[in-house]
Amino acid sequence: MNILLIGSGGREHALAWKMAQSPLVDIVHSTPGNPGLDEVGPCFDVAADDIDGLVKLALQVEPDLIVIGPEAPLALGLSDILRARGFDVFGPSKAAAQLEASKAFSKGRMTRYGVPTAAYGEFTEAAPAKAFLATMTAPYVLKADGLAAGKGVVIAETRAQAEAEIDEMLSGKFGAASATLVIEEFMHGEEASVFVLTDGKGAVYLPAAQDHKRVGDGDTGPNTGGMGAYAPAPVVTGEIMARIKREIAEPMLKGMAKDGMPYQGVLYVGVMVTAEGPKVVEFNARFGDPECQVLMKGLAGDVVPVILAAATGGLKGNEAAFEALLELKDFKPSATVVLANAGYPGSYAKGALVKGVSASNALPGVTVFHAGTDVDSDGALIAVGGRVLNVTASGDTLREAVDRAYAGVEAIDWPQGFCRRDIGWRALV
Ligand code: AMP
Ligand code: GLY
Repeated sequence: MNILLIGSGGREHALAWKMAQSPLVDIVHSTPGNPGLDEVGPCFDVAADDIDGLVKLALQVEPDLIVIGPEAPLALGLSDILRARGFDVFGPSKAAAQLEASKAFSKGRMTRYGVPTAAYGEFTEAAPAKAFLATMTAPYVLKADGLAAGKGVVIAETRAQAEAEIDEMLSGKFGAASATLVIEEFMHGEEASVFVLTDGKGAVYLPAAQDHKRVGDGDTGPNTGGMGAYAPAPVVTGEIMARIKREIAEPMLKGMAKDGMPYQGVLYVGVMVTAEGPKVVEFNARFGDPECQVLMKGLAGDVVPVILAAATGGLKGNEAAFEALLELKDFKPSATVVLANAGYPGSYAKGALVKGVSASNALPGVTVFHAGTDVDSDGALIAVGGRVLNVTASGDTLREAVDRAYAGVEAIDWPQGFCRRDIGWRALV
């Protein structure tokens, strides 16, 4: 089988690396790819949001399956366009992807299907938004409705800050993405990420993961795309997972299908485990980055059959068979440490040499996934992004996985790089 994978981050490198190990797969093509993906299979240079270019590329490559990594092409309707051309696609339709692309849509669906989440209001005018604040208590959670590259959520400590933020967002702080805003109740608890592979009817759940969003140790400093992750996350006990299935994922999938927007692909459920049980923080229409890296690393079995079934149907009633193929019971504890460029999540320099990736990969249990890397005119590996490498490892225990990942970090020679030193701390204390 021939796969075309769209994207260029650590998430996509991990997916390609894992899918290429399947006996079902002959070749994994990627676009626009990165130097890590280049080692897995051929890379093309069509950007992930160039819809016309991607359709042309698909017609040229004629893949048996197209896997869409990031949210932008999903929100632009790439899945629908490719399906209309007869391709099998892993990734939700434009309508279903609104669960990520519009917070107001997502909250509306949760209300409609009775799914637990923070109480909220939705606004396009400042006066009613400020009046709503008066009914809430601090801290105030303000969210731009649309996609804002992970920056669209502001948590304001005081009412004055929240009011100022309302004015800024509604006057275009995030462009069209903040023309509508959602204000919601602050939820207390611990966050986790749960990934549901689904064809819209049946569903297979991967082990819960936990991301580390803040740039600094001890969860301090500004938010980032994610500085590391690990799985399984013990905060999601068997009982909590059962509630996530019953109270969140099943009613969402059933409701979306009934309302003519069946969800196919991977549903990322961002949950807050509160004193009252799991509640939804957000949905995403794709795998998490860097959560995907630890899930692909930890899975003992073959991921391709379930990805193919999510794209083409046949999951319902056969979940146990797909779980057996994934060898979910033998999932190995895994951790990933993001090596980021000095200055990230602010501005950073591009072009510094990154050495030691092969030495790191040669260590027991370690796999280095590429994110913001490129090669210079001499073919040497250089850093060009904010998050540059994902040093990922599995082990018999999470402790071993984390220690191995940090040993992998030590083998990398890139003085401008930095990482958090406490990945996995919530599970290791
Ligand atoms: P989101 O993009 O919706 O996931 O929000 C980004 C981050 O803001 C989340 O990962 C949470 O840490 C935090 N957050 C969002 N909504 C809430 C909420 N209602 N209560 C507490 N924290 C939240
Ligand atoms: N790791 C968070 C995300 O992918 O949105």
